[in-house]
Amino acid sequence: MKEGAKKAKSDEGIKHASLIKSKFTGKKVIPLKYKIRKHNGDTRIDEFLHTGIEGFDKLFDKEYGIPMGMSILVEGGAGSGKTVFCLAAVNGLCKQGKKCLYMSFEEPEERLMDHMSHFNWKVKDYIGSGLLRIQRFNTIDVSRSVEALLSEAKKELLIEVDPVLFPEDFKPDFVVIDSLTSIASAFSGHESRFRIYMEQLFRYLEKNKITNFLIREVSTPTHLGSSYKEEGEAVSFLSDGIIVLYNVIYNDGKRGSAIEVLKLRGTDFQKKIVKMDIVDKKGVIVHNDQILSKDQQKGFVLT
Ligand SMILES: Nc1ncnc2c1ncn2[C@@H]1O[C@H](COP(=O)(O)OP(=O)(O)OP(=O)(O)O)[C@@H](O)[C@H]1O
Ligand SMILES: [Mg+2]
Repeated sequence: MKEGAKKAKSDEGIKHASLIKSKFTGKKVIPLKYKIRKHNGDTRIDEFLHTGIEGFDKLFDKEYGIPMGMSILVEGGAGSGKTVFCLAAVNGLCKQGKKCLYMSFEEPEERLMDHMSHFNWKVKDYIGSGLLRIQRFNTIDVSRSVEALLSEAKKELLIEVDPVLFPEDFKPDFVVIDSLTSIASAFSGHESRFRIYMEQLFRYLEKNKITNFLIREVSTPTHLGSSYKEEGEAVSFLSDGIIVLYNVIYNDGKRGSAIEVLKLRGTDFQKKIVKMDIVDKKGVIVHNDQILSKDQQKGFVLT
């Protein structure tokens, strides 16, 4: 019995024996964690990305964070904090020396850099040292490139082509796409082409083992029971996980934010909606112990 417990313990742990010293803050940060699984005689090593967002990683099994290589949808209503949340993950990962690519189809590069500076995140240092690239793309370019490929090649060939617009000279560990909603709008009236592009994109990210957050704006959060347009369903099906951000309206008129991990393949997580704060000069704080429950004195509505 004791022997078994000992063995189980040795099957998971911290990838590097000592903590990594962050190049930017000088503080020691948590290195990559891993679990070893044995399945049908094969050994599988599952690695996890610690986002470094205060309180967020605590929502996952043993506080490990997100399994590496996963495609996670970050969805929520307008202004629910999708962009800031993803930038917070970029900050946490850059601090650990992970390479991040932020692909923006909405806000220009300078604005995203400003957002990061407002939270005192060292965006210029990250970019200067080659850890971070923030790049803005035009959605029309995506749809035009898909058009061009479709007219040149057969669909079967297109599947083998890497999704257009990925920079060839930058190989990231983590990618944010802000947002799928914007890309979808460029394909309006051509849903099957959007599906081809999405399949290509997911395949590329999977093949290159790039962990990614894909932002999607939704008018009604998933669990509140909306019915999606077809493109939304295709994306949900392809993703490994869903993180939902909520706008909260309390009965006293105050507004706030909340977060929930709704789905995540391959690891256990806490199934609850908890309070989240976006604080100037500080960043994103997830209060993993403050559940928004219906019976709390101060009522609220989630949007
Ligand atoms: N520097 C800051 N200090 C405090 N709060 C901030 C700061 N920057 C942003 N916020 C908060 O974050 C909210 C919106 O964040 P964000 O832009 O990430 O939302 P979003 O979900 O990406 O919105 P959209 O749907 O427009 O893309 C703002 O409404 C504001 O409350
Ligand atoms: Mg945004």
